[in-house]
Amino acid sequence: MILVTGATGTIGSQVVRLLSQQGVPYRAMSRTRTGPNYVNADFTDPASLSAATAGVDAIFLVTTPPTPTPDHDLALLEAAKGVPKVVKLSANGTGERFGGEVMGAWHLVAEQALEASDLAWTILRPTSFASNFLAYSLTDPIPDMLGPAQQAVVDPRDVAAVAVEALLTNAHAGHRYDLTGPDLLTFADQAKTLERVLNHPITTVDVDAGQTLQATGMPPEAIQAVTTGVAWARAGGAAYVTSHVPTILNRPAKTFEQWATDHQDAFTTMR
Ligand SMILES: NC(=O)c1ccc[n+]([C@@H]2O[C@H](COP(=O)([O-])OP(=O)(O)OC[C@H]3O[C@@H](n4cnc5c(N)ncnc54)[C@H](OP(=O)(O)O)[C@@H]3O)[C@@H](O)[C@H]2O)c1
Repeated sequence: MILVTGATGTIGSQVVRLLSQQGVPYRAMSRTRTGPNYVNADFTDPASLSAATAGVDAIFLVTTPPTPTPDHDLALLEAAKGVPKVVKLSANGTGERFGGEVMGAWHLVAEQALEASDLAWTILRPTSFASNFLAYSLTDPIPDMLGPAQQAVVDPRDVAAVAVEALLTNAHAGHRYDLTGPDLLTFADQAKTLERVLNHPITTVDVDAGQTLQATGMPPEAIQAVTTGVAWARAGGAAYVTSHVPTILNRPAKTFEQWATDHQDAFTTMR
């Protein structure tokens, strides 16, 4: 039995899809969604976590706390004592020092807790998800915080497929993988690809990350974490391609164009 946390989210929903396709028994964790295979639990409610983790063989750990804190990861690890394996979704750049900050400090604390545990752990550090474009309306200029920064955006389906390999086999215990797509792209490159695939004009506008995020009402600590990540990417920190996805999946990593082509329908209501 596999427990998939973040099961209604971008990566967790793909992990659920793959486990379901393969006929692997799983429990999908959500705070509110109900249905076959679903368990309702909240990282802030230890009793619910104990119930969700009871009797499972492995956990896919996805946390999205409202402010950057390892508390959700640590609560899950506390509840999961006795579970043999955890595969954690972390983020690229975690632990690197940039501009006086430690990147992804909250992911780092969780990673270190996992590494110090008796668990068989695997840590996945993906680059930006190709699907982040779904957050934008195509009728307005899309805010470009990254300017000339290149990054090899990764298809969530590839991240999920690697997670499932790590959950179902013993080959990846004790490994930390930086997961990327196959191509270094700027944000404007992605917009041009999407424009071509959708046959719909898409414009971008350069924006300051801090000012743009402040207007969204995000908590200051979260803004600080994102702006540090943006500055790191602008300084070339995310401009790398790794071979982990093709090596682990034994096929090429999916391109941004493939992702855009396969998700055209998701953009139709935005046009
Ligand atoms: N986006 C990127 O480009 C990127 C890149 C690298 C790494 N990452 C990392 O990826 C992770 C996010 O993954 P994702 O995009 O797949 O997540 P997501 O789509 O934001 O979904 C997260 C899920 O977590 C659940 N959740 C939120 N708060 C919860 C709580 N208190 N208790 C239990 N469940 C809770 C929610 O499900 P319910 O509402 O159903 O409860 C939600 O569906 C983050 O750790 C981030 O740092 C993201």
